[in-house]
Amino acid sequence: MKHILVVGSINMDVVLEVPHIPAVGETVLSKAQSLVGGGKGANQAITAARLGAKVSMIGRVGADTYGQQLLESLKSSGVNVQGVEVDGQAPSGVAYICVSPDGENSIVVNSGANGRVDVAQIDRHKELFDQVDYCLLQMEIPLETVEYVLKLCRAKGVKAILNPAPAHQVAPELLEGLYILVPNESELKVLCGTSGRELEKMAWNLREQGVENVIVTLGGEGCLAVLGNKAEYYPAQKFPVVDTTGAGDSFVGGLTVGLAEGMDFPTAIRFASFVAGLTVSKAGAQTSFPDRATVDHYFGGDHR
Ligand code: RIB
Repeated sequence: MKHILVVGSINMDVVLEVPHIPAVGETVLSKAQSLVGGGKGANQAITAARLGAKVSMIGRVGADTYGQQLLESLKSSGVNVQGVEVDGQAPSGVAYICVSPDGENSIVVNSGANGRVDVAQIDRHKELFDQVDYCLLQMEIPLETVEYVLKLCRAKGVKAILNPAPAHQVAPELLEGLYILVPNESELKVLCGTSGRELEKMAWNLREQGVENVIVTLGGEGCLAVLGNKAEYYPAQKFPVVDTTGAGDSFVGGLTVGLAEGMDFPTAIRFASFVAGLTVSKAGAQTSFPDRATVDHYFGGDHR
């Protein structure tokens, strides 16, 4: 079985149900508050593990109650947490998420321990890079660490998949040899340093900079995939929208599992679209990721 490593963030999500996303200078009253496990790294790891993949994670939580709960959530989903360290000096990361009645959200993250996932921690768990086939990364840990991991993946022949969220420009040499880049539309613009609207042009530009495959997620509109020398749009799988939190993460997790199981790109994208669609049909991040049987029910059987 192929092995997936996730290097990334682990947050406790404080979810606030609001009548609408507050505008600048506006105060709104929340109808309800709940605590749900989140963090883009942990979300991708848990999605992949629930879909049946072998998954390990490198990340960091605080020595606090949230940290214990978040570690438990990873473990109970089947993620190997040998690379997750408990930090005595910083609290667990917390994300404050406003969710509107139509399922849209806005998120503010206080990084806490995630900001201390450093190069030395990666080195302490370097042996994992000899055991894995794919490495998933996002941008909620220090950029320096992301860059170091990408270089390590290249040296070890591990296929690196970067979800550049939250948006950040990265050094051009890091794009060279990246197996897949999965930005959303606004992240794509930041990466390309443009406010242009020509998605295909921007995606091709990243391909020309050395990224092997670019998949731009477009929410309810599906995604644009520039795979090798071909650009194609794929539809989203429609489910009733309750909360879009974590849908991008579950798409990335699902895509990686599909590819790890030997699906070709169009099939893996279709598989990931069902995973993301099912995610938006439930509230919260880690509370909403589907298990394999549910995905296979819609996707059309187990393709393993
Ligand atoms: O992508 C959704 C995630 O972003 C949330 O779970 C939150 O923790 C933030 O990291």
